[in-house]
Amino acid sequence: MSEPVSPLSPAGDRHFDGLADKFAASLYGGARGELRLALLDRLLPEMLDLRGQPLLDVGGGLGQQADWFAARGHAVTLAEPSGEMLAQAREQLAGREVNVLQAPLQALPELAPGPWPLIVCHAVLEWLADPRGALATLAGLLSPGGQLSLMVFNRDALRLSNVVKGNLEKALADRLEGRGLRKRLTPISPLTHGQVEAWSAESGLVIREMAGIRVFADYLRQPPESDADRERLLALEQRYCRVDPHWRLGRYLLYTLQRPIRPPEETTA
Ligand SMILES: C[S@@+](CC[C@H](N)C(=O)[O-])C[C@H]1O[C@@H](n2cnc3c(N)ncnc32)[C@H](O)[C@@H]1O
Repeated sequence: MSEPVSPLSPAGDRHFDGLADKFAASLYGGARGELRLALLDRLLPEMLDLRGQPLLDVGGGLGQQADWFAARGHAVTLAEPSGEMLAQAREQLAGREVNVLQAPLQALPELAPGPWPLIVCHAVLEWLADPRGALATLAGLLSPGGQLSLMVFNRDALRLSNVVKGNLEKALADRLEGRGLRKRLTPISPLTHGQVEAWSAESGLVIREMAGIRVFADYLRQPPESDADRERLLALEQRYCRVDPHWRLGRYLLYTLQRPIRPPEETTA
């Protein structure tokens, strides 16, 4: 029998070819995706200084976020390595003037060097073999004063949800990450807030804002069944998504990172 072809890219990343339909149905087709978009709709204008800047959406997936920014007057370039995701993004973006580029993050310093005043990279780093190197690459694409909207899958929340579901052995062994095989949607590199803090600092980025996305929804014993309860859940998420300690256990962590206008002064002896 021949060896199955690895779904990982040569760099070890999980491009979403073979996963696009499952991702579209299981995330954006359901209540979790709706909640994520509703939260981002409120949070992005609060957390970013939006002035219609051109922006680069890295790993832009199905194009929802590109659509959101394009509708607000930004000239958007969406970069995405998966042809399957791009095909669906093109449908989502029909009628919008969005520049679409089939490329992985690692190729962007050559293909879309900018520098960019605004970069969006949502739910991508956790699918890469080297998220730390990727953050340094993103930092290099930002103009001085430029902002990066970074959203990452939260490793600590993954532990909690495993415990809540009764996967005690897995949680105790700290075997939380996926392997990127077949059609599994468990990320290969879930991140901690500590890693984001350390890697931002070493890439010369300053954390300006933080929030948790879905700080309650993924831990519910039963999903809300009525519209009134869905509204109550959204209100709770909105009220606590930037409040300590709740934001720290959001399924995703959302950050505004900024490249300072001037590099920090070198200290002289
Ligand atoms: C979970 S989806 C997120 C899509 C979109 N940003 C969103 O928030 O809905 C992860 C995306 O990252 C893409 N991806 C994987 N490896 C990548 C890489 N090296 N460079 C850029 N994107 C990558 C995948 O193909 C997939 O479309």
